[in-house]
Amino acid sequence: MSDRPSNQKPADDSKSSVAAGLKGVVVAQTATSTVFGEEGRLIFRGYDIHDLADHSTFEEVVSLLWDGDLPNRAELADMVTLLAREREVGKPVLDLIRSAPAEAPPMAILRTATSALGQYDPEAEDLSPEANRRKAVKLTSRLATLTAAIFRCRRGQEPIAPDPALNHAANFLFMCFGERASAQAVRAMDMALVIHAEQGFNASTFSSRVTSATLSDMYSAITSAIGTLKGPLHGGANQRVLEMLYEVGSPERVPDYIDAKLAKKERIMGFGHRVYKVEDPRGRHLKQVAEELAAAGQGDPTLLDIQSRMIDVMQDRKGMAINVDFYSASLYTYLGFPADLFPPLFAISRVAGWTSHVMEQYSANVLIRPRAQYIGHSGRRYVPIADRG
Ligand code: COA
Repeated sequence: MSDRPSNQKPADDSKSSVAAGLKGVVVAQTATSTVFGEEGRLIFRGYDIHDLADHSTFEEVVSLLWDGDLPNRAELADMVTLLAREREVGKPVLDLIRSAPAEAPPMAILRTATSALGQYDPEAEDLSPEANRRKAVKLTSRLATLTAAIFRCRRGQEPIAPDPALNHAANFLFMCFGERASAQAVRAMDMALVIHAEQGFNASTFSSRVTSATLSDMYSAITSAIGTLKGPLHGGANQRVLEMLYEVGSPERVPDYIDAKLAKKERIMGFGHRVYKVEDPRGRHLKQVAEELAAAGQGDPTLLDIQSRMIDVMQDRKGMAINVDFYSASLYTYLGFPADLFPPLFAISRVAGWTSHVMEQYSANVLIRPRAQYIGHSGRRYVPIADRG
């Protein structure tokens, strides 16, 4: 039983200054990607996101992220084949998805199913670079299969087996809807996959690195990342954007809606960013593809009209620009997905970046373990339970 005085000063961290939310703190080195927040630029391995969005496929970006260079034709063909042949997830994991409660959010089911994948991989605990590369392929390929199965099971439908003849985006849409998607829909999906694949040291990527830095396995790292992406301040924002657009209902109602929210100090989903201080460069590509789908009669263009008005009003009221989640909401809606599937749609792309970071972390590992400024009690005298009032 300690009898120290209760005013005893706690340890040294009580005097440290706190970088709340790690704002502006540089915690590691990476060669994978970076964001130039003041200029609104994003580069993957040195390549501008605008070039990748306009010209690349998801498989090409995966190859770039993992290997550091754009692939040549043969390397790209290898990546397409590798990803295509690792799509099957096995009956036990599909049964897990089938047995999920109807009210469970798709992102929660994806998190659980991703964790389960690790139990069935005999290489899960092998941290050699070769095994980790194989696991990166499996995870990147299979998260799409899991998400498609989640989508179908929640609609009372059976999962559809992947089609090895289709590329990643086309096969994903096929596994969701049971028919081959139009070239326009495949290109829209592929572009969304490219756009969301990587983004510096965002919260979920940081989670994946913290987990892998303990030398835990890649499945654990990706499961951590999915849990982090799920939050409404990160990958859960796209779902909230659509809910907000439906709540607003028409472009005329936008000013009142935003003013009421801001008066209550509430956030407008799809606006603001920790690093971008100007336009998020990804937004314009998603907007363009969403507009093309709407013009082709794929969905209600009112969503885009409301969004356009919201941009003007938020610029006027807060000088704040959109982030990636703003237009992904309308794009995914036009592709035929419900709002609660949007966060998993983000995850099936970002897994390429997460796995890239996990491999980078293992290659020069240092345990990530910050400290906190202690503001709690110190030196309290323990009172046995019989003596407490
Ligand atoms: N709507 C209204 N106000 C917002 C806002 C938003 N979307 N985002 C930030 N702000 C305001 C905050 O209220 C705060 O104002 P104050 O200084 O008057 O209190 C100021 O801007 C700074 O916000 P802060 O939370 O410190 O910035 P951050 O860097 O920690 O937050 C986000 C970044 C992304 C979490 C934040 O912009 C947000 O919550 N956006 C909405 C959710 C979203 O779209 N997330 C997806 C991110 S890709």
